[in-house]
Amino acid sequence: MHVLAINGSPRKKWNTATLLTKALDGAAGRGATTELVHLYDLAYKGCTSCFACKMIDGPSNGRCAMQDELRPVLERIETTVDALILGSPIYFGQMTGEMRSFLERLLFPPLIYSQPPRSIFPRTIRTAVVYTMNVDEERCAQMGYPAMFDATEAALSRAFGFETETLCSFDTYQFPDYGKVIMEYMDPAKKAARRAEVFPEDCRRAFTLGERLAAKD
Ligand SMILES: Cc1cc2nc3c(=O)[nH]c(=O)nc-3n(C[C@H](O)[C@H](O)[C@H](O)COP(=O)(O)O)c2cc1C
Repeated sequence: MHVLAINGSPRKKWNTATLLTKALDGAAGRGATTELVHLYDLAYKGCTSCFACKMIDGPSNGRCAMQDELRPVLERIETTVDALILGSPIYFGQMTGEMRSFLERLLFPPLIYSQPPRSIFPRTIRTAVVYTMNVDEERCAQMGYPAMFDATEAALSRAFGFETETLCSFDTYQFPDYGKVIMEYMDPAKKAARRAEVFPEDCRRAFTLGERLAAKD
């Protein structure tokens, strides 16, 4: 069992990366080999709409034809990854642009325009998505973020054949020193308390998510 986590945050040691690392720790505890890829280390673009992946009997049928630093990652997912954990902060109500571009490259090639549309990805893969965000759970619902979570779950489930799990970490601590920025909108003391009291529980939930993914056949 090989579990790959994809960090869609530019920060390698903050909220999203921390939760992904915990999830991988959980998977490793169940005997999985693990790997963490930081998307911001890679030079790549989103889908360029070349449609090479859709050409019947073409050399790239079902696969992304673009040649850039995402290619080896996509190849590993196709050949050796058994579980995939995506992580992204919320930026302006969405996953980051880098995660979005990655998903275009991952999800569009195996999707064929059959009726109904279906995936020709050659294997089944367990998937999960971890989101981190400044807003609390109530505001997240008010802002309509869950519609994006549901759409992403549906796309991943269709592509890889298993139900996708979503884990959200709300009201995250955003930077080391709240004293250095204008801070009327948030209460730094409440942020610090939440970081101390709730984020460790989010980390535990991420750990058990990794355990669950690795335990499944
Ligand atoms: C450019 C930018 C846009 C953001 N937009 C939102 C947003 O729309 N909603 C939200 O809840 N948090 C927003 N945030 C906060 C981040 O989602 C949050 O701090 C997240 O935990 C950061 O993840 P990281 O620590 O892994 O980098 C934004 C942060 C940045 C830098």
